[in-house]
Amino acid sequence: MPVRTTIVVGASRGLGHGIALAFAAAGDSVVAVSRTPADFPGSVKSELANAGDATVPARLLDRYEPDVVVLVAGASPHMRPLQEQTWETFSVNWETDVRVTFGWLREILLKPLRPGSKVIVVSSGAALAGSPLSGGYAGAKATQRFITSYAQDEASRAGLEITFTAILPRFAPETGVGQPAVRAYAARAGQTLEEFLQQVGPPVTPELAGSELVELTGAADISPAYVLTGSGLQQLP
Ligand SMILES: NC(=O)c1ccc[n+]([C@@H]2O[C@H](COP(=O)([O-])OP(=O)(O)OC[C@H]3O[C@@H](n4cnc5c(N)ncnc54)[C@H](OP(=O)(O)O)[C@@H]3O)[C@@H](O)[C@H]2O)c1
Repeated sequence: MPVRTTIVVGASRGLGHGIALAFAAAGDSVVAVSRTPADFPGSVKSELANAGDATVPARLLDRYEPDVVVLVAGASPHMRPLQEQTWETFSVNWETDVRVTFGWLREILLKPLRPGSKVIVVSSGAALAGSPLSGGYAGAKATQRFITSYAQDEASRAGLEITFTAILPRFAPETGVGQPAVRAYAARAGQTLEEFLQQVGPPVTPELAGSELVELTGAADISPAYVLTGSGLQQLP
């Protein structure tokens, strides 16, 4: 079987790093996109770029012609109650997460990627439950899920045979977005970090995200959206 090419956008740290490593371990040719360099085994090609720049999606999609694209890149929200946000802090995830998703999905449809390609967008469990201490984060992550479904609809209408799916992870307390979030929500609940994490249940880790997404891309049938908990993926209606 020919080697698949997988682009992971937002792969220098956290969940994206674990996802890039897992696809490489599965034998894919992996392109890891981030603004800062990261440690990777020799088989992973690192591309230093701001994924939200207007010309980056077309340039990288044309250069690598990927079979799989995983959009993980996201900003760390400003963990403060609503009244302590400014519009600039409130909107950081719109300017990064939503901008990156919009730019890449648009370009994937315009190009288009070849039939059979798979596109995974990492949204958040906050899109279902809200996130009162992180400004516009939950709304931005919900918008990522919406535009993933819009992209699927456009692809289906045009007969492109590209599959789009959104992943909504629960807390990954060791990574850049998760760590400040679990601390802030523990403090607000008047709990220690340990008490809060115990109540949250088994954590999502970069390794788990990686193995679950590799398995998902091998599945015959992929649903429009999944929640990712420490126990794995659960399909959303
Ligand atoms: N951790 C959680 O609890 C959790 C829960 C639900 C959903 N999520 C979502 O999962 C994703 C990853 O979260 P994480 O905690 O793993 O975050 P993280 O550790 O902070 O890593 C974020 C990654 O995104 C990259 N990135 C950010 N902006 C970028 C840009 N403009 N262009 C290219 N790369 C960019 C960063 O690399 P550079 O800085 O080097 O560019 C880094 O590799 C986010 O979308 C987050 O909202 C996280």
